[in-house]
Amino acid sequence: MSSWSPERKQSPGGWDPHLSRILFLLLLFVVSAKGVTPDPNACLVFHSRNGSSISCQPPAKLPRYLPADTVYLAVEFFNLTQLPAHILQGIPDLQELHLSSNQLEDLSAKFLLPVPQLKVLDLTHNALKRLPPGLFQVSAALHTLVLKENRLDSLEASWLHGLKALRHLDLSGNQLQTLPPKLLANFTDLHILDLGNNQLQTLPPDLLRGPLKLEWLHLEGNRLQVLEEGLLAPQPKLRYLFLNNNKLTTLAAGALRGLQVLDMLDLSNNLLTSVPEGLWASLGKAAGNMKVGFDISGNPWICDQKLDNLYLWLVANEDKMFSRNDTRCAGPKALEGQMLLAVASSY
Ligand SMILES: *[C@@H]1O[C@H](CO)[C@@H](O)[C@H](O)[C@H]1NC(C)=O
Ligand SMILES: *[C@@H]1O[C@H](CO)[C@@H](O)[C@H](O)[C@H]1NC(C)=O
Ligand SMILES: *[C@@H]1O[C@H](CO)[C@@H](O)[C@H](O)[C@H]1NC(C)=O
Ligand SMILES: *[C@@H]1O[C@H](CO)[C@@H](O)[C@H](O)[C@H]1NC(C)=O
Repeated sequence: MSSWSPERKQSPGGWDPHLSRILFLLLLFVVSAKGVTPDPNACLVFHSRNGSSISCQPPAKLPRYLPADTVYLAVEFFNLTQLPAHILQGIPDLQELHLSSNQLEDLSAKFLLPVPQLKVLDLTHNALKRLPPGLFQVSAALHTLVLKENRLDSLEASWLHGLKALRHLDLSGNQLQTLPPKLLANFTDLHILDLGNNQLQTLPPDLLRGPLKLEWLHLEGNRLQVLEEGLLAPQPKLRYLFLNNNKLTTLAAGALRGLQVLDMLDLSNNLLTSVPEGLWASLGKAAGNMKVGFDISGNPWICDQKLDNLYLWLVANEDKMFSRNDTRCAGPKALEGQMLLAVASSY
């Protein structure tokens, strides 16, 4: 069997913040196919029984007034450093706000006050270094917050006060070096947490205490060295775990204990030479059967008796292994360069 394509691992997971936009564009396509050609200098407007949807991209001019029943607003790719004042005034039913690919550096604490029904806020690819405390004071309905690819180097729990329905938090592609304690303590409904591609060296031990239903956890592309015993313990419903492209040398023996529905585990491109006995006990055959698979490639495995436990597990779960050809022994000398699976099979 060939190894699985790594591209498929890049999917953001679960809920797609851009899906609604795609649906919106499809609707516009249907409209324009009927003979209404959109004017490039105007925003695209779509009216439905549910309310109006407005999507603006350059070279369109931003409208001075938005329909009072606007439920969807996208102002993207303008490189705006500031939003037009009062842009959200008079559209109290707004549910989705997409502001990606601007150059926003600051938001006012009062920015979201006019739109208490907001469910989705997408700020991907801006220049935010901080958020004003109080920004979300009326955002009890917000379930998706995307702050991907901004310039956040730290966070404060108070920035997120007011959020009560958060299901998807995306902080990937920032410069976060540490996270404050209790950051997620109030987000019991969180399903997707993306902290990928930051500069995290350690995580607060209580990071995942609070959420009750986490399914996707992205920690790839950081500088983590150790996966501690208790970090994942509060999340038995975790299904997708990405720890690839860190500097992990040490996994605690109980680090994955209790993850009985884990469908995907990516540990590729770390510095693992060995793993403790029992690490895999709750995963794979005889425990929960992983639906997707696991990747331990790109680590400098030392293929000696300390890996006995892993060898047995690998052979039993071979059909779920990604990147076999890149999963090789770095030592001892006699086995250097051998495929780990071949060594395991002949053991
Ligand atoms: C209107 O909202 C309903 C319920 O949320 C949804 O099923 C329907 O697809 C929406 N219609 C349009 C045109 O967006
Ligand atoms: C925004 O910035 C990008 C990158 O610098 C540039 O390619 C693009 O043309 C700019 N867009 C506008 C509308 O100024
Ligand atoms: C959790 O919510 C309570 C009540 O709104 C608030 O007092 C507390 O500061 C919040 N904790 C964190 C860590 O955000
Ligand atoms: C396996 O990896 C080796 C060296 O890393 C490479 O030369 C070879 O083409 C790879 N084989 C397959 C089937 O990908």
